[in-house]
Amino acid sequence: MKTYQVNENGYYGEFGGAYIPEILHRCVEELRNAYLKVMDSEDFKQEFAALLRDYVGRPSPLYLARRLSDKYGCKIYLKREDLNHTGAHKINNAIGQVLIARRMGKKRIIAETGAGQHGVATATVCALMDMECVVYMGKTDVERQHVNVERMKMLGARVEAVTSGNMTLKDATNEAIRDWCCHPADTYYVIGSTVGPHPYPDMVARLQSVISEEIKKQLTEQEGRDYPDYLMACVGGGSNAAGTIYHYLDDERVKIVLAEAGGKGIDTLMSAATIQLGRLGIIHGARTLVMQDEDGQITEPYSISAGLDYPGIGPMHANLARQHRATVLAINDDEAVRAAYELTRLEGIIPALESAHALGALEKMNFRPTDVVVLTVSGRGDKDIETYLANNPY
Ligand SMILES: Cc1ncc(COP(=O)(O)O)c(C=O)c1O
Repeated sequence: MKTYQVNENGYYGEFGGAYIPEILHRCVEELRNAYLKVMDSEDFKQEFAALLRDYVGRPSPLYLARRLSDKYGCKIYLKREDLNHTGAHKINNAIGQVLIARRMGKKRIIAETGAGQHGVATATVCALMDMECVVYMGKTDVERQHVNVERMKMLGARVEAVTSGNMTLKDATNEAIRDWCCHPADTYYVIGSTVGPHPYPDMVARLQSVISEEIKKQLTEQEGRDYPDYLMACVGGGSNAAGTIYHYLDDERVKIVLAEAGGKGIDTLMSAATIQLGRLGIIHGARTLVMQDEDGQITEPYSISAGLDYPGIGPMHANLARQHRATVLAINDDEAVRAAYELTRLEGIIPALESAHALGALEKMNFRPTDVVVLTVSGRGDKDIETYLANNPY
């Protein structure tokens, strides 16, 4: 049987691995030796499960969206990660990694953030666990997601505005890696998505896999079978999608649909549709698809959504696309905004701009009336209200 799981060297097919500077070699090795041992220990499992339940509010509901279902002629369930504490799926991963960092004796936490949701999640967990926290964020994102910047500051984190490149997620990640190189011994880098050198993509996917674990149970209760016909999610680096599909990767009855950011269109120079536009390359420690020019220089991505504005993609997802296990659709800014308004008007749920890309993929599908679709609403749209109002299609 074909498998889409990671191998012991951190590769998904030809994608993945750990391409890191010498100075980080020890930290990455240390993490690689520690993460599975820690995650398999009873003590970690209990503390993680208790925090997910009592602090995050899990399980998140699997909500049958009746009016949305009527519109698209099938049965659409929404996995409501927007209802988690701090408003997105990012908190699942942040809690898990800070628990791992503590068990590794690390005292200082750094993180990168795009939309600010991962930064807020990490700052939240650091407040809870009394740890020092520095968050790197591109200046463009500091401006377009300023509410999240204020939240991070209130939580006690230091937010460093990054002014290199086009001042978005890629540049924030570069700066976080630079910081890590300067403080390799005491600092733990909490990466917010299924990107970076092995073991990060696998570790983040495992920490987010609670999403599909719950979907299995909830579908059994609500549908009498534990699998849907379709799983749909947006992909920036790929963590909410990885969590949504984790327990279904090798179940070919389930079709996987990933929505990446088309920006102004994949045939314009303003796009972040990495899977469609990228070529094999190395970014932030992983071999994966990368948007690059003919000389191999990474090109500046563009998306209305700060969380999807990234020129790389998780190696798991690059492989799923390469193996034709996943269908990848590029959803443009205007399609995402329209879909966000549609969900708001039909179901009374304002989704994050990132999640709106998954919703925008619905109109490109051809569902049968018997199809059961699970779509992950990765976050809530409070942080995006200004962008929505400025782009109101009505
Ligand atoms: C709400 C939300 N959804 C999705 C994403 C994209 O990240 P990922 O692909 O890792 O889920 C982000 C990133 O900031 C986000 O804030």
